[in-house]
Amino acid sequence: MAGMIKDAFLHELLGRMSVEEKAGQLNLLTGAMDATGMKHSDDLEAKIRAGHCGAVLNVYTPAATRALQELALASPLQIPLIFGYDVIHGQRTIYPIPLGLSCSWNQDLMQRCAQMAAVESAADGLHWVYSPMVDISQDPRWGRVAEGAGEDPWLGAQIAAAMVRGYQGNDLADPASVLACVKHFALYGAPMGGRDYHTVDMSRRAMEETYFPPYRAAIDAGARTVMTAFNDIDGIPASANRWLLTELLRGQWGFQGWIVTDYTAVTEMKNHGTAATDSDAARQSLDAGVDMDMVSEAFLAGLPGLVESGAVSETQIDAAVLRVLGTKWDLGLFRDPLARCNHESAIHPSPENRKLAREAARESMVLLKNKGGLLPLSKHQNIALIGPLADSRRDMLGCWIAAGDEALAASPLDGFREMAEVVHAKGCGISEGNEDLLADAVREASQADVVVLVLGECWQMSGEAASRTDIRLPQCQRELAKHILETGKPCVLVTMSGRPLELAWEDSQFPAILQAWALGTEGGHALAEVIFGDAAPVGKLTMGFPRRVGQLPMTYREKPTGRPFDAAVQYSSKYLDAPNDALYPFGHGLTYGEFRHGAVTIDSPEMQPGGTVTVFTEVTNLSTHAATETLQL
Ligand code: BGC
Repeated sequence: MAGMIKDAFLHELLGRMSVEEKAGQLNLLTGAMDATGMKHSDDLEAKIRAGHCGAVLNVYTPAATRALQELALASPLQIPLIFGYDVIHGQRTIYPIPLGLSCSWNQDLMQRCAQMAAVESAADGLHWVYSPMVDISQDPRWGRVAEGAGEDPWLGAQIAAAMVRGYQGNDLADPASVLACVKHFALYGAPMGGRDYHTVDMSRRAMEETYFPPYRAAIDAGARTVMTAFNDIDGIPASANRWLLTELLRGQWGFQGWIVTDYTAVTEMKNHGTAATDSDAARQSLDAGVDMDMVSEAFLAGLPGLVESGAVSETQIDAAVLRVLGTKWDLGLFRDPLARCNHESAIHPSPENRKLAREAARESMVLLKNKGGLLPLSKHQNIALIGPLADSRRDMLGCWIAAGDEALAASPLDGFREMAEVVHAKGCGISEGNEDLLADAVREASQADVVVLVLGECWQMSGEAASRTDIRLPQCQRELAKHILETGKPCVLVTMSGRPLELAWEDSQFPAILQAWALGTEGGHALAEVIFGDAAPVGKLTMGFPRRVGQLPMTYREKPTGRPFDAAVQYSSKYLDAPNDALYPFGHGLTYGEFRHGAVTIDSPEMQPGGTVTVFTEVTNLSTHAATETLQL
């Protein structure tokens, strides 16, 4: 019955729409509260008033979304807008960057984080988050590894599904749910040389085995929207790739939702060299199965003419429009278009949300090395907290912080000060040395009992358009580290970064290294808890740390070769100047406990395709620290 009412409503509405208004529903424009691409949308308000815009990104807060929604409701057909935003790891309360959070291996935690982000997003007037980003990547030169779940397809698939469940909940009309958008379909995590926006070239087998599983899992979990990738696949841009979008995604995988392009990906086809004009690009995209054009405005400008010339049929456009309108119906927008923006802003992370963000931050850190049990530190000694990131709140939040506020975040120093007496010195900038800062830091270190050095990447060094060819710590930070080590004081290295770094030198010098990513709003507090042993590290890497950048791309999931590695055999698969394996591989992560793993048994010697077997083992914590162990099979 409800289905019939919805269908009748949508078809009646569709029957009243001009081709221009239909193209309008497929047109996603950007507001100016954030800038996530090069092109801006001109005359946004006029287009909304005319019914030439179906959805808006980069506008949030109840007041700002309400102002635009009221314009849409005054348009001739009064069709409400959908508001979308890059809520990648939280909207107001920022939790660790996705790569960091994936190291918790805790899917329930990730689902709860996504749910918190959904509630905060919806309270900010949003209906749609551009997450989860599920692109598998084996190359930490690519800055966007920060946004994903690492190198493993199986784990990546579990995480993708958990996040979709967290965002969408059980009912989209529930004001605590938002539409998930799985991105970037497909293979965006494998650009050549790790350079963002670069070409991808891959076998169908690698697609199936390594790259597709997380997208597929997100679809199976009910994700309602998919975003195309910027790259081409087999020479055809993803946004015009009929095999990818229609045959595979809709046909084989049964995807029922709608497909949006990435930012200006339609008009970028001219740069790919696969479309001569914007209108030709629009035709190719629609033909391939795209429903909505992000910011290019090629659909809006091109579709009416394409229908008139017969290059595109109106039935094709209708199918896309019905998908978008159907989602608006499911969100309850036709019933109560102002439901999510009819209240005052609640801009502060609530205490409960901060608590969850702290739990997430605590579980995301990975203890890479802890020689002689240097960690945890006693609070009752003279501690020097040194480094350009030691007192940075902004860098603790990382890339893509949505409406997160650095003033509400805790830096390492904020966290340490709540637990112990600490002195602090910066030592250097992120990428520039400074003699005075260095001298100051060395002096503080010399007078301390123990030093905690917080080094790494600032927030702009990972995320979109942030690929690097040198993934070591910046030179000035290595200089600082050298001078601090020369004081002879016991020294813990805390690395904050959006990617696995090349830490071979640091590994050879520091007794203890804790990988702390960008941990979000509660990062500094969680870091202090782990450093001082109030909590034991839990994280296990979901992406390996290379010994040398020259090993990249790399993965633990290597296939066997005909000439397996043998250091003593010249004609075996190896490098002359570095081992093959990672310095810290996928799955690596220590804790303060010491675990004994018992024998492994299995309940059946056989397993049918698609079947299940259960594997048993006994795990014993031999130490006095409470700790968590994640078993990997
Ligand atoms: C990014 C997407 C993002 C979109 C909208 C693009 O540049 O690749 O991940 O969702 O912008 O901001």
